[in-house]
Amino acid sequence: MSLPLTFYTTNKGKVAELAAQLAQVGLAVRQDARGYPEVQADTLEEVAQAGADWLLANGATPPFLLEDSGLFVDGLNGFPGVYSRHALDTLGLPGLLALLRGVPASGRAARFEACLLYVDPAGRRHAFTGRCAGRIAEAGTGAGGFGFDPLFVPDGGDGRTFAAMAPGEKAVLGHRGRAVAAFLASLRQTGKP
Ligand code: IMP
Repeated sequence: MSLPLTFYTTNKGKVAELAAQLAQVGLAVRQDARGYPEVQADTLEEVAQAGADWLLANGATPPFLLEDSGLFVDGLNGFPGVYSRHALDTLGLPGLLALLRGVPASGRAARFEACLLYVDPAGRRHAFTGRCAGRIAEAGTGAGGFGFDPLFVPDGGDGRTFAAMAPGEKAVLGHRGRAVAAFLASLRQTGKP
């Protein structure tokens, strides 16, 4: 194993998913939970880039990773999107279900997106995006995962929510898994961090 790669996040669920995938290629991850300001922006990548600006200005030494992700619900015009963390903290899962009451079934279509930002040893930035389409269930099921996982049924699965899947299953179908796979493909071309 090489030196652990620092992942700036306060979210242990993200760390567990990233660490499991990177371990498969012999890379270790170290969580740094100091946090950084999440700017208000229109896209996940802008939030991640601003986070990297702040971390670099406040003593972070490359290489490191950070990630911004969100749930975009069709029937809510893409809400909560870049505000997903805030929505989870304030509305919670019952609040999201309540917002969808009365919305036609097609409006429950949703997608998760993740933007994984890698700041390489030279300070260059590489953004990797992963998406997963699916729908919001009528009620929460499953005890695994984190965040909105009990409500999200990914396309391409067997109807279970992310929270009802084993971590490896979520990694194959999920937005974060896909962003990490793109990161690993790029590392294979450019060499290890
Ligand atoms: P942020 O990336 O720190 O802004 O937070 C993203 C928020 O989106 C999390 O707090 C969760 O509410 C939600 N989220 C992102 N990825 C996932 C996931 O894989 N499962 C469930 N919820 C997620």
